[in-house]
Amino acid sequence: MCGIVGYIGKQQASDIIIEGLKRLEYRGYDSAGVALLNGTLDIKKGKGKVQRLKSKLAASPCRGMIGIGHTRWATHGAPNDINSHPHVSQSGNIALVHNGIIENYGSLKKELKNKGRSFQTDTDTEVVAQLIEEIYENGENVSFEQAVRLALKQVVGTYGLAILHTDEPDRIIVARKGSPLLLGIGDGEMFIASDASPIVGHTNKVIYLDDGEMAIVRKDGYEVKTIEDIPLTKKVHELALSLDEIEKGGYPHFMLKEIFEQPRAVADCLRGRLNVENHSVQLGGLTDVIDRLAAADRLIIAGCGTSWHAGLVGEYLFEHLARLPVEVEYASEFRYREPLISEDDVMLVISQSGETADTLAALRTAKEHGALALGVCNVVGSTIARDTDAGVYTHAGPEIGVASTKAFTTQVSVLVMMAILLGQKRGTIDKEYAARLIRELNDIPGKIEKILDQSDSVKRMAELFTYAPNFLYLGRTYNFPVALEGALKLKEISYIHAEGYPAAEMKHGPIALIDAMMPVVVIAATDHTNDKMISNIEEVKARKGRIIAITGAENKEVIDLAEFSCPIPETEDCLSPLLTSIPLQLLSYYIAVNRGCDVDQPRNLAKSVTVE
Ligand code: AGP
Ligand code: GLU
Repeated sequence: MCGIVGYIGKQQASDIIIEGLKRLEYRGYDSAGVALLNGTLDIKKGKGKVQRLKSKLAASPCRGMIGIGHTRWATHGAPNDINSHPHVSQSGNIALVHNGIIENYGSLKKELKNKGRSFQTDTDTEVVAQLIEEIYENGENVSFEQAVRLALKQVVGTYGLAILHTDEPDRIIVARKGSPLLLGIGDGEMFIASDASPIVGHTNKVIYLDDGEMAIVRKDGYEVKTIEDIPLTKKVHELALSLDEIEKGGYPHFMLKEIFEQPRAVADCLRGRLNVENHSVQLGGLTDVIDRLAAADRLIIAGCGTSWHAGLVGEYLFEHLARLPVEVEYASEFRYREPLISEDDVMLVISQSGETADTLAALRTAKEHGALALGVCNVVGSTIARDTDAGVYTHAGPEIGVASTKAFTTQVSVLVMMAILLGQKRGTIDKEYAARLIRELNDIPGKIEKILDQSDSVKRMAELFTYAPNFLYLGRTYNFPVALEGALKLKEISYIHAEGYPAAEMKHGPIALIDAMMPVVVIAATDHTNDKMISNIEEVKARKGRIIAITGAENKEVIDLAEFSCPIPETEDCLSPLLTSIPLQLLSYYIAVNRGCDVDQPRNLAKSVTVE
């Protein structure tokens, strides 16, 4: 987590850094800080969001054309003023910001204390500043750059770092291992950031640093080297992102904007990939690997949170359409097991950000075992996108709200296309059925639009359930993962305890929770399990539970049984998650707003989890 911004150039750095940090706030918002270099280091930092820092700076401005900034998601040390970044060395001459975890900070701190250094904070980060200074001050003819290099060799863990030294006011040194960092190349100015959003609007030329790399960034240029001091020539990429895409566009929250963007996001995801006339799917990113994928023994899907839920939908899809054995793994568990993987397996990792540490580790584990590694990512150029052998972008556009919405529907859209393509390749999908699915998929953006048109009725329903202490979500087959996703949305933004279950599991335990206080959201959109769902609804009603049904507009039986219902347009069973997930996103959004929660930046969370 944590967002890093750096600037060196011809303008005052403070405003650029603050605006950049605001765009990175989705990565963490426990505290924020800046360090500006203007002869000496001027540091302003403290608990709270970037807006608070901005007000502090307005009251007491920091000047300088070189600076670094940070917005924190605390891993080590409470989220208070003192633990906020930037952190400084004992002399006050070095300031740095850090994204990641220094795993051996305890032993390093002990050694440094034994050498007489005193520490001000509880963070792991401070040891890096102190270690660099220790090496710089006590080594023979050690330059600042060498000191950074030598310090990083002693550090175990992950980092994205931006470092300033008063002795070298013409440069920022950055380094990356496990946490993303980009350089933006301007005209007589350079930008540093954790992702492209702070750079957009300043320049569209960027360089993605890779693990094990450092850069010495000056206003009129940069050098990239390995930590071992081997010079590198890096590719300069053109950013396709526009400023409009990362602003709220008149919506009160990013989450609402992103929910309403879904017809466009899914259409963008499908664009150029579906051919309705000749019933085919083209996924350019898979062209070189499709034969190996089609011949695979097994597909392992890994992800976290919402992306894991999309992976579960993928399991149903690949088994149904491509008759391929699938296992879906929590990336965080997979990496620490002793997974049995062979060269005949394919690993498919799913990640909106493309930076989730657990997912990246799962991907690397599979690669070490020789499996083909594929990715479904949203952020172009992200670490996972670059580390996989091949993959498919979701093209959802930037997702800023911490709760994933359009990421899920576009991930599922990609998985549907992959499963159809694979089914056709493996000869497991009936021609007419494939043609029907492709037609239906093409119509999905319009159907999502229709659901969004009913958002007012979801809003009214949300008012009635705003203060429910618990929620249960039930679904079967394709909509079991949607039940999990609906419950996750509610938990993360409204802090209401919610659980998702396969509907039939209810009678194995959760049914004991049902009483007149328990809203039960039933996702009854799949045809062949409809009768069973009706029985489950009856079971809930018999215990006075309150039924909210997400169901087909024609499903009169379920609509009549439910206290409230959100009718969704008819579609193929396997496409239903693309529709049923929408009212659940709206429900959690409106409940969270009614409860006065911070929808885009829920407590304790961050958008991109780049630590374990
Ligand atoms: C979704 O609403 C969550 N905030 C979270 O579970 C998220 O899906 C998870 O952290 C994975 O992120 P990724 O898709 O960027 O890898
Ligand atoms: N470990 C650092 C801290 O707690 C950085 C945290 C992070 O990158 O998430 O301040």
